[in-house]
Amino acid sequence: MTAPASGELLAWYDRHARTLPWRVPPGSPARPDPYRIWLSEIMLQQTTVAAVKPYFARFTETWPTVDALAGAEDGAVMAAWAGLGYYARARNLLACARAVAERGGFPDTEADLRALPGIGAYTAAAVASIAFGRRAVVVDGNVERVMARLHAVEAPLPGARRLLTAHADALTPHERPGDHAQAVMDLGATICTPRRPACCICPWVLRCEGRRAGIAETLPRKAPRKPRPERRGTLWIARRSDGAWLMERRPPEGMLGGTLGWPGTAWEAGGGGEPPVEAAWRPMGEVRHGFTHFTVALEVLAAEVPRRARPSRGRFLPAAAFDPADLPTLMRKAHRLASPQARTG
Ligand code: ADE
Repeated sequence: MTAPASGELLAWYDRHARTLPWRVPPGSPARPDPYRIWLSEIMLQQTTVAAVKPYFARFTETWPTVDALAGAEDGAVMAAWAGLGYYARARNLLACARAVAERGGFPDTEADLRALPGIGAYTAAAVASIAFGRRAVVVDGNVERVMARLHAVEAPLPGARRLLTAHADALTPHERPGDHAQAVMDLGATICTPRRPACCICPWVLRCEGRRAGIAETLPRKAPRKPRPERRGTLWIARRSDGAWLMERRPPEGMLGGTLGWPGTAWEAGGGGEPPVEAAWRPMGEVRHGFTHFTVALEVLAAEVPRRARPSRGRFLPAAAFDPADLPTLMRKAHRLASPQARTG
């Protein structure tokens, strides 16, 4: 059913494509800029379009080309990424920009794109098809949902992934593969939504086996998730009498790797640990955050320290250079707990 099914979807996309800052509208003679496509696809992983938009605008304003991004300071990129989460993406983004600048531009095949840092199967397929017009099978969560419903696949994810990819492959056309990929994703985001899909305005309603069986909304099925273990730890927020904050950059590997934050213990079964500086530490409460494979609960301790304080780790960042917006969400939450004025203002 490839050609007619894809043709119907493309006709819908020609009229209803979402206007997105990184997107070239369907039918436009302009070729999409691979830098903007790659950047947006990395940002959109596990992240909503609404959350990505301001970050995309700031990045492309600050670094309008891949060469400009390749020349950026690591700390500036980590700060610009702060709040978007999954910080390995930001580290790989920079490594990828430098590799691309080194080789003189983005490669235009899926295989060569996959060889770059941080580019997996999804991103390689998306960039190859959207930016370079190559036929490639693009599968994200939206595509999986649309395929599961269209073909009434009741096998649960993640086991059903291969079958759903095979269905997506069978539908992908040789003409306009990039628009087709974006159309399936838009369909999933706007009509074939997780809850209450708007089947009555769907261009594939008459083809949808899930709809015919009355089970569309219940798909895709998911294998029950194991409960995420909890890790505990402590954060110390020290403020010097001149207003400077004691901060530390996390090691490049591991959770929140390379980001700026408050000195703390490792995240293990227990809290406690040795503070970075001797002070009258006050308990301020707890911050919690869910990561993919565990949740973390960190006790926040705060203290004022004198100018002569000599911490065993971290360094003092002057108040004028401190902006909570440069911190990952977890560290920003801890700052808010520790500074009542930040909570109200
Ligand atoms: N989600 C991630 N990438 C997308 C794209 N290019 N179009 C629509 N939705 C998307």
